[in-house]
Amino acid sequence: MRVRDDRSAQGRGGSGSPRAQVHGTAGSQGRTCAAAAGGVTGEPTPIASRETHCHLVAGLRNARWDPPQWTSPKQQNGPTRGSATLLGYTAKAGSDTAALAQPPPPPPPRAPTSPGSVKVGAVPNRRLGSVRGVPVSSPPGRRARLSYPGTGRSSSEAREELRRRLMGLIEGNRVMIFSKSYCPHSARIKDLFSSLGVECNILELDQVDDGANVQEVLSEITNQRTVPNIFVNKVHMGGCDRTFQAHQSGLLQKLLQEDSAYEYDLIVIGGGSGGLACAQEAAILGKKVMVLDFVVPTPQGTSWGLGGTCVNVGCVPKKLMHQAALLGQALKDSRKFGWEYSHQVKHNWETMIEAIQNHIGSLNWGYRLSLREKAVTYVNSYGEFVEHHKIKATNRKGQETYYTAGKFVLATGQRPRYLGIPGDKEYCITSDDLFSLPYCPGKTLVVGASYVALECGGFLAGIGLDVTIMVRSVLLRGFDQEMAEKVASYMEQHGVKFLRKFVPVMVQQLEKGSPGKLKVVAKSTEGPETIEEIYNTVLLAIGRASCTRRIGLEKIGVKVNEKSGKIPVNDAEQTNVPYVYAVGDILEGKLELTPIAIQAGKLLARRLFAGSLEKCDYVNVPTTVFAPLEYGCCGLSEEKAIEVHKKENLEVYHTFFWPLEWTVAGRDNNTCYAKIICNKFDNDRVIGFHVLGPNAGEITQGFAAAMKCGLTKQQLDDTIGIHPTCGEVFTTLEITKSSGLDITQKGC
Ligand SMILES: Cc1cc2nc3c(=O)[nH]c(=O)nc-3n(C[C@H](O)[C@H](O)[C@H](O)COP(=O)(O)OP(=O)(O)OC[C@H]3O[C@@H](n4cnc5c(N)ncnc54)[C@H](O)[C@@H]3O)c2cc1C
Ligand SMILES: NC(=O)c1ccc[n+]([C@@H]2O[C@H](COP(=O)([O-])OP(=O)(O)OC[C@H]3O[C@@H](n4cnc5c(N)ncnc54)[C@H](OP(=O)(O)O)[C@@H]3O)[C@@H](O)[C@H]2O)c1
Repeated sequence: MRVRDDRSAQGRGGSGSPRAQVHGTAGSQGRTCAAAAGGVTGEPTPIASRETHCHLVAGLRNARWDPPQWTSPKQQNGPTRGSATLLGYTAKAGSDTAALAQPPPPPPPRAPTSPGSVKVGAVPNRRLGSVRGVPVSSPPGRRARLSYPGTGRSSSEAREELRRRLMGLIEGNRVMIFSKSYCPHSARIKDLFSSLGVECNILELDQVDDGANVQEVLSEITNQRTVPNIFVNKVHMGGCDRTFQAHQSGLLQKLLQEDSAYEYDLIVIGGGSGGLACAQEAAILGKKVMVLDFVVPTPQGTSWGLGGTCVNVGCVPKKLMHQAALLGQALKDSRKFGWEYSHQVKHNWETMIEAIQNHIGSLNWGYRLSLREKAVTYVNSYGEFVEHHKIKATNRKGQETYYTAGKFVLATGQRPRYLGIPGDKEYCITSDDLFSLPYCPGKTLVVGASYVALECGGFLAGIGLDVTIMVRSVLLRGFDQEMAEKVASYMEQHGVKFLRKFVPVMVQQLEKGSPGKLKVVAKSTEGPETIEEIYNTVLLAIGRASCTRRIGLEKIGVKVNEKSGKIPVNDAEQTNVPYVYAVGDILEGKLELTPIAIQAGKLLARRLFAGSLEKCDYVNVPTTVFAPLEYGCCGLSEEKAIEVHKKENLEVYHTFFWPLEWTVAGRDNNTCYAKIICNKFDNDRVIGFHVLGPNAGEITQGFAAAMKCGLTKQQLDDTIGIHPTCGEVFTTLEITKSSGLDITQKGC
């Protein structure tokens, strides 16, 4: 592991060095804003160790400054416990930062620099607490906090966390200024950097909620109690006067020219939902960012553009094909509403594919444009670690290029699994192939019984194909099983066949073609029974494997769950190697959904580069299975709620409902279903929300926000419904499941 030295080890903090423990700041007591603030020696100090807050860098008086030295932690003479180095390798004894035990390799060659190329103010001032630059990460309209709100944390923990965040800001920004918006000295400093054409990040302490705490911790770190408090390339300059002196002596310019040891502040491997969100946010925060995205073609040769699974082979084409199927149903309904048409209506697969692929193409282009606009370097190459802080990028032609960065985010996502039976990779397709399949798949066997299987099987049946879904065990494992069975029951009534408790053991090609003919041999999971059937297409939807095995993680010691391939991270999405983070589908124990990957990526960038503390909240995440009759849910399934809270503590309210639009069309009554699970001993709080019906995704989204706010049954009852909608059913739920009363509906 490469560890960047704290500039104290050789000739400074080390033996015989003039290591300064700076105490007190001239005239600073009780002041909040002072021109003369700075170390008593008047010398800029690098922020290096939590134990040794300030290390003398060089004499301002003789205007000499030594470039930073590189050493291993062992070489450092400073204390080892909690020795925060400049890259945030906070190595606490006994922590899981095992890689710290190894001495770091020498630093990589420096990238060419273009100091001053970005001007102060170039980064949009999007958040409160920012004057120029992007110092804090509160969403617009919200006051920024750098420390945790004091819930359940000891003040020393909160303080330590705040110190860590401040160190992050200092280490993560070339120029970091702690100032106050009304302070004239701070204004002079901002003008100075502005005149030098240097981008700087500014935290206005009077505009953050916990500015006083920040100032206190800062004074512990620097022994300077006043603002402005200025850091350049991690070196503590001091206050206004000291910085102007450094400018006059040329030291400031010298410090500014010292480029980062790495070519990039951040390299993101994987340009999907999570990776792009993180890369773009980091770039907005003024960081030098690269994103690598490379699609390894499927065994059938399918490949696609920038944007990852969601855009190319996931949510987007899936929802559009779901819509194609819904339109078929709407066509049937339309006659009842007076539409007359004589010629036979049929679906054209090729037309649908072309339209959807055109849309996806425009999204791919949009992503590239957006990266360019934000000055994110996009490289269409496969990334893998070769050593600490260094990756190899291999492009389609096999050309290799090496890049270095201070921080890395893994966002490589997942790819469909194969069965490992004869004929699977040769003849079967997966969702990676389906959405751009150039021909109609015909009679299709879908293997699997979760999201992808039910959604794909559902829309294929919806456009008129003969579809069988082969279920190994249960439907929608992990979901509320009552709801899962209702989803399947609707599908069965609308032509989808379910083959339960079977798994394929062989796929054999009988005829080539587009589509050809495949013989599938399947075996019962409950006995010796074997069955055979002929299909045009076999779609495997048996889950997805994380792309973490061939990205050189073993070379830098990133832990991977051997069995699942998933990456364990802490609640800040940090792996066991402190400069490597991960977001999205590859995270162990997290949900595999686009909005989660995006949220985690964006918040991670803000924490890494803007001092934010906001973490991704993985609780009460709503989701929808876009089966022919959509199933939306948020919170706990009934099974899980019973497991966690015990049946006697719960009240379940439920009902069937008949969408008004279905009545005239003569569609099934008592099919759509609404259910909430309430915790009786927590004010009847809604802990599970389930809806099966048209537009379930849209309905669930709104109620998910209410659940985030702690929705109770009483609040639902107090909410006035919108009539006539499906969502209004949740405002009138009266029948409890435990009452056993009839929930069938006679009318609207
Ligand atoms: C059929 C289907 C339908 C779905 N529908 C929904 C839905 O309706 N709603 C929803 O919320 N979620 C849905 N999902 C899940 C959603 O697509 C994922 O959760 C989301 O895309 C995960 O984002 P990610 O950033 O983790 O990974 P991805 O979006 O998968 O991005 C990873 C990217 O990294 C690239 N990559 C991998 N390794 C490397 C490497 N070494 N070097 C360079 N690049 C690399 C990959 O090619 C890919 O482009 C669906 C998934 C599927 C398969
Ligand atoms: N609408 C959405 O938001 C949406 C849509 C699609 C995908 N996604 C995301 O994508 C992820 C992947 O979804 P997924 O449906 O591909 O996978 P999944 O949820 O992991 O389900 C895999 C399914 O395949 C079955 N299976 C596994 N191995 C099998 C085998 N060898 N033979 C036969 N069947 C086998 C499983 O059965 P068992 O239960 O017996 O193990 C299960 O039904 C999901 O977690 C989801 O978050 C989201």
